[in-house]
Formats: sequence, C-alpha cells, structure tokens
Amino acid sequence: MIRAAVIGHPIAQSLSPVIHNYWFRQYGIEGHYEAIDLAPEDLIAGIKKLVAQGCTGFNITVPHKQAVKEICDQVTEEALKIGAINTLVVHGGRIEGRNTDSYGFIENIRQEQSHFDFKLGPALVLGAGGAARAVVYGLLAAGVPEVFITNRTDEKAHILASGFSGATALPWADRMNPPVEPHLVVNTTTQGMKGQDDLDYDLGFLPTTVTVCDIVYKPLYTPLLREAQSLSLPVITGVGMLLHQARPAFAAWTGIMPEVTPALVEKILEKAQ
Ligand code: ATR
Repeated sequence: MIRAAVIGHPIAQSLSPVIHNYWFRQYGIEGHYEAIDLAPEDLIAGIKKLVAQGCTGFNITVPHKQAVKEICDQVTEEALKIGAINTLVVHGGRIEGRNTDSYGFIENIRQEQSHFDFKLGPALVLGAGGAARAVVYGLLAAGVPEVFITNRTDEKAHILASGFSGATALPWADRMNPPVEPHLVVNTTTQGMKGQDDLDYDLGFLPTTVTVCDIVYKPLYTPLLREAQSLSLPVITGVGMLLHQARPAFAAWTGIMPEVTPALVEKILEKAQ
C-alpha cells in the first residue's frame, strides 16, 4: 500500500488527491493520496510523523515550498535553482526534495503544440512570483534563446532575471513594447483568475505567430486567452501544467509514469471550474 499526501495551508482546494487517486485506480495500484493541512509551525514535525507512519511521497504547496527544504537530506539541482520544492520522495529513510513544476509547464506546451519549437525565438514572461521561477527555468532549459521577464513590481523582475543567464528584466511600463518580438507570451501572474481582476495587457501588438499561454486554469479560458483567440493567436491553457507536474511525482512513488488522458482532464476541469 503506497501512501502519499499533499501538504499545504490551507489545502482544501487542492486537486492533487483527485489526480493521484485517479491514477492509483487507473493503474491498479494499491495506494492512497490525501490532502493534509499543516500550519507552518507544524510542518517539519508533521512530515516526520507521516514518514514514520509509512508515507513515502509528498507534494508540497503554498506556503511551504521553501521551508520544506529543512527536512530534506538531498535537494535536486533543479529545485535549488528554482528555489522551491514541490515534491518529496522518501527512499530508504532519506528525503529528497524535487521540483516538477517546470517539467509540468514545458510538457504541457509539448503536448498541446507538438510542433512548438522552443529554440525559435524569445519568450516574454508576465509576473515574477513563485510560479514564474519554474517557468523561466523550464523555458531556458528547453532551449529558449532569451527570456524577458516583466512584473508590476519591477524590482522582482530584476531579482528573478539576475539569477538566470539568458533572462532579462523588462520594465512593466514597456510590457507591450519588448525590444524583440516574442515567440511565446506566458502569464504567470494571478490576474485573470476567478475572483481577480483581468490582467492589464493588450495583445494587439503581437504578430499572429505568437503563442499565448496562461498558467491560470480557473477559468480555463482566461480573459487573456480569450483576447488571444479573438486575434487568432494559438493559445495554451493552464490545466495541463497542473496535470503534467503531477506525473513525475507519481512516477517517483510508484515507478509508473502516468498519462494525462482526456477523461482525467475532463474530471479535473469539472472540479476546478
Ligand atoms: P505565484 O506563486 O502563483 O507565482 P505569487 O508569488 O504571489 O504567486 O506571485 C503573484 C504574481 O502576480 C506576482 O508577479 C505579482 O506581481 P507583484 O510582484 O507586483 O506583486 C502578480 N500580480 C498580482 N497582482 C497583480 C496585479 N494587479 N497586476 C499585475 N500583476 C499582479
């Protein structure tokens, strides 16, 4: 019996249990994945207790993605570079911290647009928060020649860009006026999410070859993606990032790399919207 869990605070909204328990059933694996709320002060002791009880896999979400490093015996280079851990793998009593968000982001694009060539041109990333770090890492690792980062708080774009060779900060005031035409535009801000204002961004300046990607999946088609569609630009929705980041984590604790099937996408969208 494999036991795994997602740890966050709060955690009630997490869709990870739906995804992992779906795969346990689909692949005939005896396993159980639950959502556990741990407040920051209980994080380390709480995880230790779960490990002692036989839990061998964890996903880690807000607000613990940095603090959880303390409990790790080892952290992958990718997670160190991104500065966040979203997966723990317990093996032989040792805990390894990993980050699968950039894999999820890139794999979603690969699945949605199999012909997409990352090397073809620069990318423009809107936002410089936690999610942006994984996106920038993933884009550069996939071969994007240059990544421009623009953020409402300019300083955060500078800090993020300074950590990656190949990344450049673009002033927020110039976000519709990048020095070169991007091949991909990615929203990593929280704007456009249900209950939030629309992102203050106009896509009218872009050539029709640009792909527009949003990592927000609630709603599936954000106002930004709707505008892109109205301009006949190819779009990529955010639900795939959520699903694909879960795959290497599931593989780590079961040995099986699961697939994202249309039935699973449908199930998650039903729950998410
Ligand atoms: P996540 O982990 O999902 O990336 P986050 O770290 O809180 O969340 O980052 C939120 C991002 O959305 C930030 O880039 C934030 O910009 P600031 O750094 O200026 O706060 C961006 N964001 C939030 N509200 C915004 C708004 N009204 N307009 C533009 N960007 C906004």
